Parts: sequence; structure tokens; C-alpha cells
Amino acid sequence: VEVQYLNYEIIADEGWALDDDDLFEKAADGGFDPEDYGRFHVAENESLLEAAESEGYAWPFACRGGACTNCAVAVVEGEMPSPQSHILPQELHDKGIRLSCIVAPETDAKIVYNVKHIPEVHDLLL
Ligand code: FES
Repeated sequence: VEVQYLNYEIIADEGWALDDDDLFEKAADGGFDPEDYGRFHVAENESLLEAAESEGYAWPFACRGGACTNCAVAVVEGEMPSPQSHILPQELHDKGIRLSCIVAPETDAKIVYNVKHIPEVHDLLL
């Protein structure tokens, strides 16, 4: 399956919002660095974080085991179920936040990485 990704820093720099309908269209037209915007394939048995790393990208992480939330991403489109136990508050999970170290997409997907520190996420993690 294929994942299209976008760095949250771009959204912040451009004054866009996570829920903009045309977020990924704008990103595709923006001429951004492959580090900030692009697509890659996720192999079977690979987590989203591992797939990013196999492409040579350094996405945020710390524990790699679903326990710290540093690797949080926002799923804008696509199916990415969490394993049964994870430490995200249900409210964030309902909003499409996932931990990239423990999820893998089941369908093609669009995700924004680097979202741990955005207020909507950060406030609910406290
Ligand atoms: Fe800690 Fe993913 S790296 S939850």
C-alpha cells in the first residue's frame, strides 16, 4: 500500500490547517522537499515508522513500542487500525491520531507526521 505523507511543520509554516479539504493537493503543488512531502510504499510486516525509515526519513520517535507518543501521526485518509493496547486517549484515536511505531496502513493512506506538539494533540496528552 502507498502512503502520502506531509510534515506538520509545512502546515504550520504555510498557515494551513490539518482539516483543510485540499491539504494534500496544496502539498503536492508546493514543491516541497521529499523529506516534508511525498509518498512511499509500506511493505508487509513493516510499521509506518519503519517504512519511513527505510526511505531514509528521520521521523520523530523514542520508545518504538507504543508507549511515548513521540511518533504520533494524523491519518487524514485511509485505514490504519491500532493494536488493541495503545496509550493514546480515545478522543485522539477517534480523531485519527495514531502511533506510527505500532500501526501499518491497510489501505492507501494520507498522513501528517510530526503532530505530537500541535495543540489539539498535545493538550489531550497531558
Ligand atoms: Fe514511542 Fe511510537 S515511538 S509511541
